Amino acid sequence: MRLLVTGSRGQLGRALQRAAAAAGHEFVGCDLPELDITDAAAVRTAVARSRPDAVINCAAYTAVDAAESDEARALAVNGAAVASLAAAADGAGARLVQISTDFVFDGAAARAYREDDQPRPISAYGRTKLAGERAAALARRPLIVRTAWLFGDGANFVGAIRRQLDAGARELRVVGDQRGCPTYAADLAEGLLGLLGADAEGIVHVANAGSATWFEFALEIVRQLGAAAAVVPITTAQAARPALRPANSVLDTSRFRAVVGSDLPPWQDALARWLAGRG
Ligand SMILES: NC(=O)c1ccc[n+]([C@@H]2O[C@H](COP(=O)([O-])OP(=O)(O)OC[C@H]3O[C@@H](n4cnc5c(N)ncnc54)[C@H](OP(=O)(O)O)[C@@H]3O)[C@@H](O)[C@H]2O)c1
Repeated sequence: MRLLVTGSRGQLGRALQRAAAAAGHEFVGCDLPELDITDAAAVRTAVARSRPDAVINCAAYTAVDAAESDEARALAVNGAAVASLAAAADGAGARLVQISTDFVFDGAAARAYREDDQPRPISAYGRTKLAGERAAALARRPLIVRTAWLFGDGANFVGAIRRQLDAGARELRVVGDQRGCPTYAADLAEGLLGLLGADAEGIVHVANAGSATWFEFALEIVRQLGAAAAVVPITTAQAARPALRPANSVLDTSRFRAVVGSDLPPWQDALARWLAGRG
């Protein structure tokens, strides 16, 4: 397969480049500044020129808190640009793969979210990503992959905890009342290629197996690093972030399992592989 990946220098884009090479796929990557996906003409040209089998859109405005005061810009990148990508992919006879998020849900459910549960975003970021899903759904054969709590090559929670430990922190205060699915970008990339290989369509939830609160995630990072710091749970209210976040955004991944034949590994195992790779 020939893959055109937008946002190719982000966490998932980088992981996809490695996974594509390992699986023998051709990879054409683009990111800012050479391709701004909000430039519809440039998108059309880039897709037509690279003649991909699939366009995988990993480009996004991912700053969840900043989006609260910058929703128009977030919507341009996460929503409107996806419509141009869908049209360009259709024009080139390519599949569109849109990456979306657990933050399209409000978090009120008492169980894991399934693909057909009603999205009800509670943040500007979530609203713009839902707009992106709706734009992608207009492509001829879209694949919309919702994932969560990514860690990989880039800015993420694992790196943030590690930086605090490296700086000598003895106590980490971490939100304990939000539960989700920590997910390793490299495993997600493998999962995406598996879905494309199986010719999957529609919405599919993809995340590492298991779930955690941010507090439990931090505890496991500290444990695996053998650090001495104490981890103290705090509430969402105490964290006082600009954007609301779902209390429960655990994704039900049974559809992924049914299509690909297996789950992604447990997140604790993924974390160990990521930390081992970082030395
Ligand atoms: N990170 C998470 O925890 C998480 C959770 C659930 C879903 N997701 C979704 O997963 C996907 C990949 O996330 P990620 O963590 O890999 O994101 P990321 O590391 O922030 O990478 C996104 C990439 O897109 C680029 N980009 C931003 N605006 C662009 C534009 N207008 N045109 C072209 N490229 C642009 C960014 O460039 P700059 O760095 O220069 O801005 C960056 O290289 C996104 O759709 C995200 O919404 C992420």
